[in-house]
Amino acid sequence: MRAIEITQPGKPEVLQLCERPTPELKAGEVLIKVHAAGINRPDVFQRLGQYPVPPGASDLPGLEVAGEIVDGELGDSGFAKGDMVCALVQGGGYAEYCAAPLAQCLPVPQGLSMVEAASLPETFFTVWSNVFDRAQLSEGETLLVQGGTSGIGVTAIQLATAMGHRVFATAGTEDKRRACEELGAERGINYRDEDFVAVVKELTGGKGVDVVLDMVAGDYVGREIDCLADDGRIAIIALLGGAKANVDLSQVLRRRLSISGSTLRPRPVAFKGAIAQKLRERVWPLLEAGKIKPVIYKTFPLAEAAAAHELMESSTHVGKIVLQVV
Ligand SMILES: NC(=O)c1ccc[n+]([C@@H]2O[C@H](COP(=O)([O-])OP(=O)(O)OC[C@H]3O[C@@H](n4cnc5c(N)ncnc54)[C@H](OP(=O)(O)O)[C@@H]3O)[C@@H](O)[C@H]2O)c1
Repeated sequence: MRAIEITQPGKPEVLQLCERPTPELKAGEVLIKVHAAGINRPDVFQRLGQYPVPPGASDLPGLEVAGEIVDGELGDSGFAKGDMVCALVQGGGYAEYCAAPLAQCLPVPQGLSMVEAASLPETFFTVWSNVFDRAQLSEGETLLVQGGTSGIGVTAIQLATAMGHRVFATAGTEDKRRACEELGAERGINYRDEDFVAVVKELTGGKGVDVVLDMVAGDYVGREIDCLADDGRIAIIALLGGAKANVDLSQVLRRRLSISGSTLRPRPVAFKGAIAQKLRERVWPLLEAGKIKPVIYKTFPLAEAAAAHELMESSTHVGKIVLQVV
């Protein structure tokens, strides 16, 4: 099969088209003939040599695909060969065929294209796991999304808005700030011009937000504590602004705050399968009803994966970048 491999750590050009054997299936896996594969920032970190491949996973990049099930034991899963699915995978998405744990497959939501379906798994699994499971965003609560126009940020804004929450989101340009509002955020905040702490305090009548989804960390954490409501929760999913923070923990004690962090990729299949079930029950109906519409910024042919990474690293995109394989 044709695939994109990382020939050595480095710039986007190290992503090269290659020929590889079709993946061999392990227990519980199905083989997907890939139609489209989503690109995510972790793929960039993997390409740079900063995100080691978990043991047993494909060395090929790519954490999500959409395509046709062509092989594997399907048991009583309700899936059949020939079904179109999208799947969260451990790697190997930038290829014509990809092995996927059956538990991490979801049907392509009715009305969505294969490109749109391929854009779903990584961000929806991550946002559900962090915002709704870990941080327990509950009825009547508010959410601040850092990096509102990232793939993750767009999903967080759309999902929390569709579920009836007030959402605020930060972004680094005026266009992106407006895009956050068009996606459903009550207020986009251009962090280069405005202090998100002051804006959030004002919008919440001094109370602060209940949950922050944070991909920046570093010196943002102290400021997030400042604009968190009592009993508020911060869910850290990335450290784009640095891994070290100097924070006033007295507020954490006094106001019963929680700071959590997690990465999805190393979690076991059973954990991800449980998220897949919740997405199918709670989120797929919202996608099928058109209440959440995936935002595809640009597609590239598989062979142009390097250009797709270049675009992602420019951070000019809003939403998802996807490789079209067939
Ligand atoms: N923990 C997990 O399980 C998990 C799972 C998936 C992804 N992630 C992480 O979540 C983050 C978002 O992923 P994604 O695929 O949605 O990425 P993406 O679309 O490339 O978005 C990243 C965004 O972060 C913002 N940003 C803020 N500070 C930045 C900096 N120092 N360098 C670069 N960008 C910066 C940029 O927006 P502005 O220009 O507007 O600031 C950029 O658009 C990534 O860091 C990724 O590794 C974590």
